[in-house]
Amino acid sequence: MDEAVFVRAKEFARKVFEGDSSGHDIYHTIRVHDLARTICASEGGDEDTVRLAALLHDVDDRKLFGDNGYANARGFMGAEDIPEEIQNRICTIIGQISFKGKDSVVPDTLEGKIVQDADRMDAIGAIGIARAFAYGGSKGRAIYIPGDDPKTGMSEKEYFSNQGTSVNHFYEKLLLLKDMMNTETAKEMAQSRHNFMISYLDEFMEEWNGRI
Ligand code: ADP
Ligand code: NI
Repeated sequence: MDEAVFVRAKEFARKVFEGDSSGHDIYHTIRVHDLARTICASEGGDEDTVRLAALLHDVDDRKLFGDNGYANARGFMGAEDIPEEIQNRICTIIGQISFKGKDSVVPDTLEGKIVQDADRMDAIGAIGIARAFAYGGSKGRAIYIPGDDPKTGMSEKEYFSNQGTSVNHFYEKLLLLKDMMNTETAKEMAQSRHNFMISYLDEFMEEWNGRI
């Protein structure tokens, strides 16, 4: 695929996310693209598919657009004259990668697995911590409420209607992601980000309880 297609895909995503403060800014998309490319370099898979799926993975996010039949991704790819078969492949990946509690799916292609790993990687570690509190703030959620326990094993429906605190989100999603990575490359990368979140939460509780 021509490099110009990726440049235009990035610009398309930038326009879609303009003004969003729910953690879906263009930089998330760019990080997922770069991470997916890195993972692809060691895991194999078709790089063009990985790159295009990564750049378009959130442009039809259902939290922002509802169930729109991938209208934005298809609109972009149609205008680029990308063949129907490739469009379908990209939309399948986009539909399979998102986190849905215990209803999350493992993508059936290596390219899908790589993009899912990259998207999840950007939800953990230092960046993941920032995104969780940014998202919580945008929804008016509390940082932490003592005695308000995390919910485990949520279904897709429960996960999307959950109104919990941002600290609970670590236990409900972020700390689970390390073991949900598909590729060996991502599993290795995820370990240090995971450890960092554990240290962060330890420190958070020490400070909350006035111990340090
Ligand atoms: P992604 O782009 O990885 O699919 P989402 O759309 O699920 O992520 O959410 C965007 C960001 O906001 C992610 O980093 C995610 O972990 C975070 N987030 C999602 N739901 C919550 C929540 N209930 N509380 C705090 N952070 C959340
Ligand atoms: Ni994403």
